[in-house]
Amino acid sequence: MDQTKLTDAWDALAAHRAEMENQKIADFFAADPERYAKFHIQLDDVLFDFSKHRVTRKTLDLLVALARAAGLEEKRAALFAGDLVNVTEHRSAMHMALRNLTDRPMIAEGRDVMPEVLAERKKVLAFAEAIRKGEIKSASGAPFTDIINIGIGGSDLGPAMAGRALSPFVSPKLKLHFVANVDGADLGDTLAGVPLATTLFIICSKTFTTLETMTNAASARAIVAEKLGEAAVADHFCAVSTALDKVAAFGIKPDRIFGFWDYVGGRLSVWSSIGLSLAIGIGAEKFEKFLLGGQDIDTHFRETPLEQNGPVIMALIGIWYRNLWDYRTQAVIPYDQRMARFPAYLQQLEMESNGKSVRLNGEPVTHETAPVIFGEPGTNGQHAFFQMLHQGTDIVPIDFLIAAQPNAADAKHHQLLFANCLAQSEALMRGRSLAEVETQLQKQGLDAAAIKALAPHKVFAGNRPSSTFIYKKLSPRVLGQLIALYEHKVFVQSVIWNINAFDQWGVELGKELALRLAPIIADKSASTAGLDSSTAGLIAEMRKLNKGS
Ligand code: F6P
Repeated sequence: MDQTKLTDAWDALAAHRAEMENQKIADFFAADPERYAKFHIQLDDVLFDFSKHRVTRKTLDLLVALARAAGLEEKRAALFAGDLVNVTEHRSAMHMALRNLTDRPMIAEGRDVMPEVLAERKKVLAFAEAIRKGEIKSASGAPFTDIINIGIGGSDLGPAMAGRALSPFVSPKLKLHFVANVDGADLGDTLAGVPLATTLFIICSKTFTTLETMTNAASARAIVAEKLGEAAVADHFCAVSTALDKVAAFGIKPDRIFGFWDYVGGRLSVWSSIGLSLAIGIGAEKFEKFLLGGQDIDTHFRETPLEQNGPVIMALIGIWYRNLWDYRTQAVIPYDQRMARFPAYLQQLEMESNGKSVRLNGEPVTHETAPVIFGEPGTNGQHAFFQMLHQGTDIVPIDFLIAAQPNAADAKHHQLLFANCLAQSEALMRGRSLAEVETQLQKQGLDAAAIKALAPHKVFAGNRPSSTFIYKKLSPRVLGQLIALYEHKVFVQSVIWNINAFDQWGVELGKELALRLAPIIADKSASTAGLDSSTAGLIAEMRKLNKGS
């Protein structure tokens, strides 16, 4: 990385930002009928339209120059070479090996990891197929009907999001359930809705120490032992982890333990054995299609020049808004009810990866990092928070996602869904001026005083940016492509910010303090001395409220 070039690149962007202050996206469209043609790219099965952004060709050129000055091409090569890019944990980030369906070796931590990846994938898919075919049965001898994945964070969000997104592909004989929260309501409500005698539990935890997962797993085990008998536990539980010794200690049969490795981050692990519930649901063939989607984007990201590279453009537009315009949030709005968990999935992917304040060398960052990610499916979001997106004081860039065809839904509904998606990005971009509002109100017959009072409330400033991702249908392969696009986007941004996208030290303090407080909360006579007065006061209040119950 050349520091002078980097400073120059940021300075050039700052100067360009000033030039762009009053430029309107709608004017870019008016001036250039070819804008859409020039500002979209086809990424395998996904078309990425970035024409409705506050960017010109010059903006993108300057952003690409920034990426080059930050050493993106070298760092991309280092990522794929299996270098120890996760510097604080001395690990590679080789999740791409899990979706490598070629015979190309993939190196992590100095070895070709494909033999272990292929062996484990084969084991997982064989187990998944045996459950689907009823060859592996419940203790009663009946085939399994329900699968409960117990895990949290990356051991939940990936399979939960994908299981729902791909529900039209899930065998009608199986239902997938996901329990994450240590709140007993999560496990309790899930168990209330399943036939325990034909339910398989998958305990998913990279570390096999996570409080929530271990608590839920122990409770589920106790319930199975109580209701179905201790001998049934072996038939009804399996586990996925990198900590195989800890899993064995829990009492899971060795042939029911599926591994993965430290070079796969939790939030990047859906492609690994962590995807077991998904593989059971959609079957081996479709799970491999899902992996193929991820591999499609790996090839694209690795081989395409930065100027035409989808994840790079996504990342750089994000940098433009976060660092040059100080936009602090990013919305993700899938126009697909089954993609309801996609925004939550991206919250972990983006905010746990890039919500950092120090650079790789431990010094403070020089630019703001991850924006707040939020979202809901369209059209629901339109009737909740879109008011703020259209007329609020903060500008929120949006990613819209939509399929041309529904997987399993009425075509007329889908036409309306599609119309709404396009209407929103157009309305955000175009806006409605005061003069337009006044003309509209005059046509409606309002008098001058009424127009004056009402018109300002009906003005839309417009010039609000969005991307649209469109694909034919949300197939396993397309979902794999979408996830991998965002994964690499996050990596590119981490390179520009010079931070480690692959650790998550920021979750540790809360975990430690929860462990310290748990015994004080469990024992009502335990001393609260040494705690701050708020924490001690709230514990006292909890004890008071619990008195007599
Ligand atoms: O607390 C954050 C985290 O460590 C995530 O990074 C991870 O995905 C999640 O907890 C679950 O961890 P595990 O899979 O080890 O139970």
